[in-house]
Amino acid sequence: MKTLGEFIVEKQQDFPHATGELTALLSAIKLGAKIIHRDINKAGLVDILGTSGISNVQGEVQMKLDLFANEKLKAALQARGEVAGIASEEEDEIVVFQGERGENGKYVVLMDPLDGSSNIDVNVSVGTIFSIYRRITPLGTPVTEEDFLQPGHAQVAAGYVVYGSSTMLVYTTGYGVHAFTYDPSLGVFCLSHEKVRFPAKANMYSINEGNYIRFPLGVKKYLKYCQEQDEATSRPYTSRYIGSLVADFHRNLLKGGIYIYPSTASHPNGKLRLLYECNPMAFLAEQAGGKASDGQHRILDIVPTQLHQRVPFFVGSRSMVEDAERFMAQFPDE
Ligand code: AHG
Ligand code: MN
Ligand code: MN
Repeated sequence: MKTLGEFIVEKQQDFPHATGELTALLSAIKLGAKIIHRDINKAGLVDILGTSGISNVQGEVQMKLDLFANEKLKAALQARGEVAGIASEEEDEIVVFQGERGENGKYVVLMDPLDGSSNIDVNVSVGTIFSIYRRITPLGTPVTEEDFLQPGHAQVAAGYVVYGSSTMLVYTTGYGVHAFTYDPSLGVFCLSHEKVRFPAKANMYSINEGNYIRFPLGVKKYLKYCQEQDEATSRPYTSRYIGSLVADFHRNLLKGGIYIYPSTASHPNGKLRLLYECNPMAFLAEQAGGKASDGQHRILDIVPTQLHQRVPFFVGSRSMVEDAERFMAQFPDE
């Protein structure tokens, strides 16, 4: 059995110039994940379910667990000298870690502390997503928004924690994707899937089909293609939608599939956030042999202009994302 801590230290030795800072940062995320795991698992027993009565800067109601997870992760990251600041789906602005320690931190962390808010109260899988960049402003100064508005291909690490039937942490530093299952009796994450790749065969599609009428024509045509009978390509495909990006992505990563949150008539840029959701998942997808696109362009090449910017999102097995892109190109909206 190999623990996440041991695995990270072992990998670090492969890189002679590594200073161990990223290792320390990942262990802060690990600690945050354990705290969130613990509280999610007794959620029905303590006063942590339901809405907080507050909305975030995007006008979405914040659940108590959204805020709880945000505070716990922020505290775990602030306790480390490696992090100069964070940006979070639950914070209006960037949070700059003040003082000498924060100003000398080399990294910034962007996060969706609790993904899948609509599933919190009903005991369905939720997640945490994180994305790590090296700051671009000089060391010894407070970080600015510029440090956070970097294209996804500049990420140095990204990952998620899925709180499902077991809790798993899945991450990449650009050398493949590795997954660790949490053993609550020992309090450690143990390596369970090394070098995860999307399987060659892919036949699942995940999309909120209730919005069908508002989808772009290319997505409508692609969905009909998924539902057609064709033995050679194993169609019809199977539909699976949990409504937590982390859980849907995780299943598709292990089983082969595509997740789509397209633009809709009411949300021209879709619902998912480029910096906290799409970039980290896109980095993981590419590292696992998959693909991530906005329907036309590679997600990791988009240069962000706003912290809470949204983007249409197609992610998963390469062949399925490429098919969906072909339909988008072939059937543009008038
Ligand atoms: P969050 O809970 O962080 O706001 O994210 C929810 C996202 C994503 O996880 C999920 O796949 C999607 O919203 C579900 O949206 P719909 O309910 O519109 O399908
Ligand atoms: Mn989310
Ligand atoms: Mn969230």
